[in-house]
Amino acid sequence: MDHLVSPSLLAADFANLQNDIMMINRSDADWLHLDIMDGVFVPNLSFGFPVVKAVKRIAAKPLDVHLMIIDPDRYLERFCDAGANNLTVQYEACTHLNRTVTEIRNLEMKAGVAINPHTPVSLLKNVLPYIDLVLVMTVNPGFGGQLFIKESYNKITELRKMIDAGGYSVLIEVDGGIDTVNAPKLIESGVNVLVAGNSVFSSTDPEGTIRKLKRLL
Ligand code: DX5
Ligand code: ZN
Repeated sequence: MDHLVSPSLLAADFANLQNDIMMINRSDADWLHLDIMDGVFVPNLSFGFPVVKAVKRIAAKPLDVHLMIIDPDRYLERFCDAGANNLTVQYEACTHLNRTVTEIRNLEMKAGVAINPHTPVSLLKNVLPYIDLVLVMTVNPGFGGQLFIKESYNKITELRKMIDAGGYSVLIEVDGGIDTVNAPKLIESGVNVLVAGNSVFSSTDPEGTIRKLKRLL
């Protein structure tokens, strides 16, 4: 399959969100990535249900919601009601991960599991049959605009082998410091979905940058 691009709204202009969402609607983007931070799992706060609902009203692309929060089970249904299409929880925040991802699928969303840079991909072995995507954090979560961690390439290669060996239809998504320079090698290593915040919204031509990430010309 062709790879997907999921621009991260965290880097958008919050004083003019409608403008940036319309740009994403017009663009080659496949999904719209929304980062939810609770100030506990990560040392930052972002936005919550009212913003997700407002984005849903005008977004033409599926909402790819990434929860960087403790105890996500408390909110799965509310994110579903707010309009999430994909719901990704952090491995490190889930005590009963199988129950959590099963509940996400029961709510008819795609279930994702994100792993921090220090978390080995081997820990995902027993959850791969129950999920739709793995989000490999390629920076420490909590902030946009950080430098890509190069060790991530090895993790992606290992994860690609695990997924293929088991015959699972699980997408590999990368998130943090992704740009048009490191994207080609990531796709070669087996990535299916590129999340990009600052490389898109800080560029002079965000729509053109999304096109470049999609086509990798
Ligand atoms: C980081 C978030 C990312 C962030 C990526 O904790 O999960 O989705 O928006 O931003 P960039 O692409 O700027 O690193
Ligand atoms: Zn994210």
